Amino acid sequence: MYAHAGHPSAAVVLVTSALFFTTTQAGEYHDEPDKVFSFKSRPDIRAPKWNVTFHDEIRLSPGYWFVAPYEKYVDDLDTYGWVGPHIYDGHGDLVWSGNNQFDGANIMDFRLQNVSGVESLTLVDNNLSKGIVLNSQYEIVESMQWGDDPIDINDHEFQWVDNNTRNLVINSAWTRAPVEASRTVGFDGECNTIFESFKELNATTGEETFRWDSYNHIRLNESTHMNFGDTIDQA
Ligand SMILES: *[C@@H]1O[C@H](CO)[C@@H](O)[C@H](O)[C@H]1NC(C)=O
Ligand SMILES: *[C@@H]1O[C@H](CO)[C@@H](O)[C@H](O)[C@H]1NC(C)=O
Ligand SMILES: *[C@@H]1O[C@H](CO)[C@@H](O)[C@H](O)[C@H]1NC(C)=O
Ligand SMILES: *[C@@H]1O[C@H](CO)[C@@H](O)[C@H](O)[C@H]1NC(C)=O
Ligand SMILES: *[C@@H]1O[C@H](CO)[C@@H](O)[C@H](O)[C@H]1NC(C)=O
Ligand SMILES: *[C@@H]1O[C@H](CO)[C@@H](O)[C@H](O)[C@H]1NC(C)=O
Repeated sequence: MYAHAGHPSAAVVLVTSALFFTTTQAGEYHDEPDKVFSFKSRPDIRAPKWNVTFHDEIRLSPGYWFVAPYEKYVDDLDTYGWVGPHIYDGHGDLVWSGNNQFDGANIMDFRLQNVSGVESLTLVDNNLSKGIVLNSQYEIVESMQWGDDPIDINDHEFQWVDNNTRNLVINSAWTRAPVEASRTVGFDGECNTIFESFKELNATTGEETFRWDSYNHIRLNESTHMNFGDTIDQA
């Protein structure tokens, strides 16, 4: 989530059921008029409603809330009007919803960035594994893929740097860790491991110009690991 908040003491507190959309069963909420916006002209949009509490509104700089609720795809929920990028004004009124434009896909890292000298909306389409730039008309002006396999893409970062000539992105490579390293987390064999790396890409060509990989740099026993039983161990 992203917002302009002018003064640290002038916090906007969002008290809402909307957080439930990402963590519990959205199906229970998506038809309730006090929980989602609904429009006769745009029945596809069901952006979550926010309950905005102002503690010291006069000290708050004006701005917008950028929100992209995430939903695990569930077969019996055929539409996901609340998933995807939405922009709200400071009072929680819906300004724009990109749900339809991105086919209800989960959207990550939705924010403003200066791209080629123009303040632009950027996001990562989790379904297509693409970094996307929208112009002020909400039209797609850049659509970039990185990594050979979408499963390798970590959608949490799509950053334009170096006067907009390069991108920084994160990769998640599934790899089998060596036996010796696996042993340090109590696994007998080669455990399945996600090694995160970050890449710098040429923004024009998508070519990789730099990469730092956690493989051989961060030990498994210094990482998060989950034991899913005696056949697979992840770190
Ligand atoms: C928003 O806040 C009001 C007043 O506190 C409360 O009555 C209402 O149920 C809240 N709505 C949601 C969606 O949480
Ligand atoms: C995800 O992308 C595939 C095509 O790659 C498309 O068929 C599918 O409808 C998309 N799903 C969502 C939820 O966007
Ligand atoms: C965006 O970057 C350009 C240089 O590429 C700079 O001239 C411009 O002032 C920046 N705009 C904003 C809104 O930061
Ligand atoms: C940034 O790029 C613009 C062209 O997009 C160029 O005019 C400007 O000189 C560059 N600024 C710097 C600091 O390199
Ligand atoms: C990106 O690639 C193009 C084409 O090869 C090249 O002209 C340009 O200098 C590269 N930019 C950077 C930042 O490496
Ligand atoms: C991780 O394993 C290495 C090598 O076995 C050991 O030196 C290090 O102290 C361990 N680190 C932690 C946090 O247990």
